[in-house]
Amino acid sequence: MKILFIGDVVGSPGRDMVEQYLPALKEKYKPHVTIINGENAAAGKGITEKIYKQFLQWGAQVITMGNHTWAKKEIFEFIDDAKYMIRPANFPENNPGEGMVFLKLNGMEIAVINIQGRTFLPAIDDPFAKIDKLIDQAQKRTNIIFVDFHAEVTSEKQAMGYFVDGRVSAIVGTHTHVQTSDERILPQGTAYITDVGMTGPYDAILGVEKETILKKFVTGLPVRHEVDKKGRTQLSAVLMTIDDKTGKAAAVERILINPDHPFFR
Ligand SMILES: [Fe+2]
Ligand SMILES: [Fe+2]
Repeated sequence: MKILFIGDVVGSPGRDMVEQYLPALKEKYKPHVTIINGENAAAGKGITEKIYKQFLQWGAQVITMGNHTWAKKEIFEFIDDAKYMIRPANFPENNPGEGMVFLKLNGMEIAVINIQGRTFLPAIDDPFAKIDKLIDQAQKRTNIIFVDFHAEVTSEKQAMGYFVDGRVSAIVGTHTHVQTSDERILPQGTAYITDVGMTGPYDAILGVEKETILKKFVTGLPVRHEVDKKGRTQLSAVLMTIDDKTGKAAAVERILINPDHPFFR
């Protein structure tokens, strides 16, 4: 099974990139399942029902989230009906939504898990204890398991990678918005990358207007984050090939589309 994962889609520039390039990516890589991190899809923070449905219409099967899950208030209205959108599984028990979803694809089944780190992020339940439980649950149904680990620090992401190595098919990091070049297959057969990177503004700081963020660092004054809409754009993704029988990874490939790494040459 081939899994295409697109990293944090930021605002309309990010959504435009998905709409423009997803058909070509599908044509080239022929993924069986496409997963998008949508935590920044609505104006940089959160997601709306319209955007969720657009992603599915454009060819994604599952949308994962992160620390900005609740940023758009309307999510509370539609999350119970959005079967294929998951939020970090280690949010407090009483939170709406689910942290794992199963997807059936011509005779095969894949479990998709979203989980969040705790270092330099809000104090939530222990992601290591939680993922143990989710893997046990998922393994009763399938050995093809994908994890989006939304976390801030590289060490926590690497630790989680080794923690689940051999028990899940692939684990990718999201949240830090800069693609790392450490894609690999861990010793026990799990595909891994510390961060997939961001899809959206290229001439900006993590997707936000650079002038604003510069002002914050130079003056120390509070600023309002706005998604950059005037510059060039990028798309960051990873393609993972999984052995259907064993659930182990056979290959992992990093994909970066931006003015310096054009998709069409
Ligand atoms: Fe993000
Ligand atoms: Fe995030």
